[in-house]
Amino acid sequence: MSLSLRSLVLCSALLAPAFAADPIRYLPATKTFVLDAGPVTYAIGVNEKGALQPLHWGGRLWRDGDFAAARSSQGWASFDLSATTTPNEYPGYGGGLFVEPAVKATLADGTRDLVFQYQSHEIKGDTLIIRIKDISYNLEAALHYKVYPQGIIRKHTVITNRTAAAVVLESAQSGAWHLPAGEGYRLTTLYGRWAGETQMAQEVIQPGLKVVESRRGNTSAQANPWFAIDGPERATETSGRVWFGAIGWSGNWRLTIEQTPHQQVRVTGGLNPFDFSHGLKPGESLETPSFYGGYSEHGFGEASRAFHRFQREFILPGGLTSKPRPVLYNSWEATEMHVDEAGQTELAKKAATLGIERFVMDDGWFGARNTDKAGLGDWTVNPQKFPNGLKGLISNVKALGMDFGLWVEPEMVNPDSELYRKHPEWAMHFPGRPRSPARNQLILNMARDDVKEYIFGVLDKIVSENEIAFLKWDMNRNASEPGWPEVAPAEQKKMWLQYTRNVYEIIDRLRAKHPKVEIESCSGGGGRIDLGILTRVEQVWTSDNTDALDRLKIQEGYTYAYTPKAMMAWVTDVPNFNGRSTPLNFRFVVAMQGSLGIGNNLNKWKDEDFTLARKMIAYYKQVRGTVQTGKLYRLASPRAPEGFAATQYVAEDGRQSVVFATLHSQQYGRPVPPLVLRGLDEQGVYKVTWLDGRAQTLSGAALMRRGLTLDLKGDYAAASAVLERQ
Ligand code: DGJ
Repeated sequence: MSLSLRSLVLCSALLAPAFAADPIRYLPATKTFVLDAGPVTYAIGVNEKGALQPLHWGGRLWRDGDFAAARSSQGWASFDLSATTTPNEYPGYGGGLFVEPAVKATLADGTRDLVFQYQSHEIKGDTLIIRIKDISYNLEAALHYKVYPQGIIRKHTVITNRTAAAVVLESAQSGAWHLPAGEGYRLTTLYGRWAGETQMAQEVIQPGLKVVESRRGNTSAQANPWFAIDGPERATETSGRVWFGAIGWSGNWRLTIEQTPHQQVRVTGGLNPFDFSHGLKPGESLETPSFYGGYSEHGFGEASRAFHRFQREFILPGGLTSKPRPVLYNSWEATEMHVDEAGQTELAKKAATLGIERFVMDDGWFGARNTDKAGLGDWTVNPQKFPNGLKGLISNVKALGMDFGLWVEPEMVNPDSELYRKHPEWAMHFPGRPRSPARNQLILNMARDDVKEYIFGVLDKIVSENEIAFLKWDMNRNASEPGWPEVAPAEQKKMWLQYTRNVYEIIDRLRAKHPKVEIESCSGGGGRIDLGILTRVEQVWTSDNTDALDRLKIQEGYTYAYTPKAMMAWVTDVPNFNGRSTPLNFRFVVAMQGSLGIGNNLNKWKDEDFTLARKMIAYYKQVRGTVQTGKLYRLASPRAPEGFAATQYVAEDGRQSVVFATLHSQQYGRPVPPLVLRGLDEQGVYKVTWLDGRAQTLSGAALMRRGLTLDLKGDYAAASAVLERQ
C-alpha cells in the first residue's frame, strides 16, 4: 500500500467513530444490532434460528462490515445441544439449555420450556428495545438497552404475559453478559460483613457456576452486586482488559458467573431466584432491575474512573450539576442515644467553629428511644429530650450557620413500641411462628400498602414541619420470616420485590414533594450501596467501622465500584474499633479521600485537636471538588504487605490534583519509595503544596516519571499534597 493510501486508511479509521451515524444501529443485511457506548461496542445478532446471539462486548468497532451474520453452533455430541453451546443474549429455560437461563417459567398448562425468538425492535437515539417471544406461547420479553458515553450499557427487561392464562415466573433476570470465549479469566467481587464492607476477593474463573447474591431483603454488606473480570493475560490498575458490571437493585439480587464446558464466560444477573415465584396474570408484566455493564482496555483504574463519572452524570440525583457534599458532623459516636436539645446544641456550637456545614442528629430523638430496646416505629419527638420539639435544636443549628440533618430508620419496629402494640401484624412474620428479633427490632413488611402509606406519612410530616436538609435513612437488620399472610400463599413470595419497590416509591415521593431534602443510605454501614439506591440518594454510609486503617481497605474496595463523591467517611475518636489508636492527622488523611464527616465527641477534644481539625477541614474544602468529582488514581493499595497506601485525584479540568498517602508501620531503614503520579499534563508545571506548608514546583513529567518524594516516617504516618497547575 502506498504511503498516501495508507495514511488515508489510517485517517478514516481514526475518524470513523466520530462519523458513525447513530450510537445504535441495526444492520439488516446481517441482522445485527451495533451499540456504541463511547469507547465500547456491544453487538448482538439474530441467528438463523431467530435467537439473539451476543457477538461482541469490548473495545469500539467502527466498521459495520466486520459483523458477519450470527450463526448458531452445532452442539457437542448428543449431550450439549445447540441451545447450550450457542451464546444467547437472553435465554429462556428450554430447548436443551443447560447453562443459566435469563427466564424460567411455568405456563398454565404445565409447560416449562421457553425458546425465545426475535420479533421486532425499536431504536430511539441511545436506546434500543428488542422484543422476543416464545416460539409458541405469547410470553414476551422486551429487552431494553441504553448506551452511555463512558462505555456503559444498561440492560433491563420487561417480561409480559400475553397468553390467555396465568404464568408463573421462577427466574427473571435483567440480562446476561458474554465475554470472548476463553479460559483463565479472573473474577473480582466485593464481599464483607457488618463493619467490614466492600472487601475485595479475586479468583480465577473455573468451569462451573459461581453465585454471588443477597437473600436478605436488601443489598447487603455480605456481597455487593458488582463484579469485574479481567482477561487471562491479567489486568493491573493501569493496563489490560476489564469487563465489569453492577445490578441496580436494593433487594434480593443475584449474579452468576459461569464458564461453560465450551469456554463461554457469561455473567447473568437480576432478581434472585431464591424464594422467588412471580405470577403474571394475562396482560401483566414484570420489569427487572437495571443491570449495567462496562469495559476498559486500560485496567481497573480506568474501569473505575469511567464508572465513577457515569454515576455522577447519570445515576446520582442532580447529575453533574449537583452540589459538592457538605462537610457534616454526626453525633452518633459522641452521644449515641443520649441526645437532647442542650447536649446537641453544645456539640453544634463546637462543630460550627470547625467549619462544619451540616449538623446531623443521629438515633435517640424519638419515642421511648433511650436504648436499642424500645421506641423504633414511634416517630414522634421525645418531649423530655426536646421540649421545644425539633424546632429548638434546628433553630440553634441554623443560627450557627449549618443546616440540619436527622437520622431515621423507617422500616423497623421495636416490639416495645406504640406502633407494634397497635400493629403487630405489620412486622414481617408467618402466623403462629416466632419472629426473630435482631438488635431487638423486627422488620416491617414494607410490601404492604398500609405500611408504605404510614411510613411515607410519617416522613412527610417530619420534613414538612421542620427545616430538615438531610435524612440519614438507616436499616439495621435483614429480613427474616418473610411472610405476607394478607395475600394468597401463591402471591406471598412477591414480598421481596414489592418491599424494595415500596421503599423506592417512598423515597421518590418524598423527594418529589421535598426536592431540597438530601438523603444518605445506611444499613448499619454499607449494607445498602447499589446503583438502584444511588439514583435516589446523594450519599451512602460506607461502614460503621471508622477505624482509619481498616477503613483504607473498605474505601479501596468501595472505589472499585462506586464514586468517592457518595462515599461518606468520618473522622472519629480513638481507640475505636480494634482498640487501635491512630493520630488525628492520619484519620483525617484517610477520611478526606471521600466525602468528609466528623463523628468525634467534641466535648472531649483538646485545643490542639480543634486547631488541627480546623486546618484539615479548610484544606479539605480547598480540594473537595477534586476528590468528589475528579478522576481517581489508586497509586498504592492498602492490601499490599508494605502497609503503604496512596490515592491521587485529578480535577476533570486538570488544574488541580490532590494526593493522599499513609504508612501503616515503619520498617527501620526502609524508606517509602517515590510516589509516581498519574493523569497529569507532562508539559505542565505544578505547584505542590504539602499539608505541613512545604511547597515545591515540579513538572508533570517529573511527577509522573520520577515521582514525588514522601517524607513518611513512623507508624500511622500520613501526608497529603495539593498540586495546582501553574
Ligand atoms: C447504624 C449506623 O450505621 C450508625 O451510624 C448509627 O446511625 C446507628 N445505626 C444508630 O442506631
